Amino acid sequence: MTTRKPVIVGIGGTTRPGSSSEQALAMALNFAKAKGAETILFGGLDLQLPMYDPATAGDSEDARHLIAALRRADGVILSSPCYHGGVSGLVKNAIDYTEEMRADDRVYFDGRALGAIGCGYGNQGPGMVLAQLRAIGHALRGWNVPLGVAVNSAVVKFDANGCSEAGIAKQIEIMAGQVFDFAQMNVAARG
Ligand SMILES: Cc1cc2nc3c(=O)[nH]c(=O)nc-3n(C[C@H](O)[C@H](O)[C@H](O)COP(=O)(O)O)c2cc1C
Repeated sequence: MTTRKPVIVGIGGTTRPGSSSEQALAMALNFAKAKGAETILFGGLDLQLPMYDPATAGDSEDARHLIAALRRADGVILSSPCYHGGVSGLVKNAIDYTEEMRADDRVYFDGRALGAIGCGYGNQGPGMVLAQLRAIGHALRGWNVPLGVAVNSAVVKFDANGCSEAGIAKQIEIMAGQVFDFAQMNVAARG
């Protein structure tokens, strides 16, 4: 029997206020919340962490906050813009902080559902970012959910009312639902 809400952490966005990658991520977390999750968003401004260094990683209060949230997470959703053909340095640096979880009972993303969103100015970049995020998540022992979301932000626009493309909004909803369902199974199995 499920005893608590699944915790789903979102990591992504850029330092640009209203970035499409952050708004897509926020939309995904809202869908997860509507299904019953506790959600925690680390957007672009939260991710301005020092360059990851194992020797000093614990010095950053923001980094400690991120790792504390990830340790509670049953699911994680990653969202990155395409910068020069790949995941942005900002998002990758944040992911690198999971090295602080290397000695945990549940190392890195072990046993956690993983959703991914890739954004780019065109059709090629988002797909590459999506593939990279899923490869990174897999390397960190996470369980990628079946649907990934590729957003061409030259065409798809986000605002307070949601997303300009109903098809993309639906994909985000399905992906977030898959992360929620797997996370809920984790909670039922592990408590
Ligand atoms: C430094 C930089 C490099 C970029 N490189 C690419 C790229 O290689 N391919 C691409 O499709 N878009 C590229 N873009 C565009 C962004 O991926 C795109 O505008 C994305 O939607 C921006 O994310 P945001 O709306 O979340 O800020 C680049 C943008 C910046 C600022």
